[in-house]
Amino acid sequence: MSDTAKTARLVAPEGRTVDLPVLEGTLGPAVIDVRRLYAETGTFTYDPGYTSTASCRSAITFIDGERGVLLYRGYRIEELATKSDFLEVAYLLLHGELPTREQYDRFVHDITYHTMLHEQIQFLYRGFRRDSHPMAVMIAVVGALSAFYYEDLDVDDPHHRMVATHRMIAKMPTIAAWAYKYSVGQPFMYPRNDLDYAANFIHMMFATPCEPYRVDPVLARALDRIFILHADHEQNASTSTVRLVGSTGASPYAAVAAGIASLWGPAHGGANEAVVRMLEEIGTVDRIPEFLARAKDRNDPFRLMGFGHRVYKNYDPRAAVLKESADEVLDLLGIRHNPKLEIAKELERIALQDEYFQERKLFPNVDFYSGIILEAMGIPRRMFTAIFALARTVGWMAQWNEMIVDPEQKIGRPRQLYVGPGERAYVPMEERR
Ligand code: CMC
Repeated sequence: MSDTAKTARLVAPEGRTVDLPVLEGTLGPAVIDVRRLYAETGTFTYDPGYTSTASCRSAITFIDGERGVLLYRGYRIEELATKSDFLEVAYLLLHGELPTREQYDRFVHDITYHTMLHEQIQFLYRGFRRDSHPMAVMIAVVGALSAFYYEDLDVDDPHHRMVATHRMIAKMPTIAAWAYKYSVGQPFMYPRNDLDYAANFIHMMFATPCEPYRVDPVLARALDRIFILHADHEQNASTSTVRLVGSTGASPYAAVAAGIASLWGPAHGGANEAVVRMLEEIGTVDRIPEFLARAKDRNDPFRLMGFGHRVYKNYDPRAAVLKESADEVLDLLGIRHNPKLEIAKELERIALQDEYFQERKLFPNVDFYSGIILEAMGIPRRMFTAIFALARTVGWMAQWNEMIVDPEQKIGRPRQLYVGPGERAYVPMEERR
């Protein structure tokens, strides 16, 4: 980031003029540095939902929402999705450069080495109802890791941070797969370190100890691609949550547990599950206009799930890759006719011609097609957001590491526009009306 000599002049209340530095990044809009604003004018900025606020400097992921471009460390997502694999992308996000063969092999070894969970953690699962949502279980289990790795974790030590990062990325597939196994009453499957990252996850999900299970490489590759597409997305709600929790010096495991909680909502990662439910509810192509009318009706809370994005005002490039992938995966699985995919495509076609969606620049986002692929792969619906969390863990850890070493970062502590009562005297209960 080159900080320029440019300034933005602000005339504050009471006519005070302040010159605020304008900082320019390598790509994207410049930012007005308001850090001195309160000290110099006694006023805050007001930006609920942070629609105009850059919360940090970051060199990890860049989104050009107007053009529909997503870059991880400068590389286009479409290129990474087709040419790379998830652990290579994880290395890239964490370290800033694509690994050499030697670095890659070392990284894969480091991740593989940490895939097992402490045996005691099984008992945590057993405390849950069998019908618990996997995201609820994952929040608890990941949070619990902060108890298992507490004494020996100094967040200011780079080696400790890297071990915590490897552990988090390595254990997440085990944690997610076990949440599923517990829900169906099957034995937990231990990780298989001879399999690659996605294949190992599929094995832990679908194998049982009773018979050999062969992971279909086509499915493993398709899932790996989904992991790549979900790995990071700059300062979204869950990543900002991880940064905020991490900014207090808290355990990264606790921070990621908070990130999972943040991701779960239907406005964020929970949308992939909601899309499939919505497509099922629509049922047939002829009912699409009815649902579009509902999405446009201000008095109806219904929204087109998998549509719209805070940053993208163009086609989400991840959705474009997934749309293509959906056709490929269904074809490879021999599924000639998938009613949900047909409804989704028709819904997209009609919505993109509709004035309401055009005016508001609402396009399909990453969640629109991912659920269809996951469902075709036999992954239960309740695991969709868990898979998103598994993949996003890489981004969360990369962003957490970046934050810890950023000399400008402070504890995250927003201010407010107070609109409550002014100071008043306590009224004894017997005198209250
Ligand atoms: N269906 C119908 N109308 C919509 C939709 C939608 N999916 N999304 C936005 N709008 C309308 C909204 O009603 C508003 O209209 P108006 O200006 O007339 O009041 C306008 O578009 C702007 O919407 P907003 O809510 O101010 O935009 P936002 O940036 O605060 O919200 C969003 C972004 C993703 C939460 C929203 O588009 C949404 O709820 N989408 C559906 C849920 C979804 O697919 N979420 C996944 C997001 S991508 C993956 C991820 O982050 O995990």
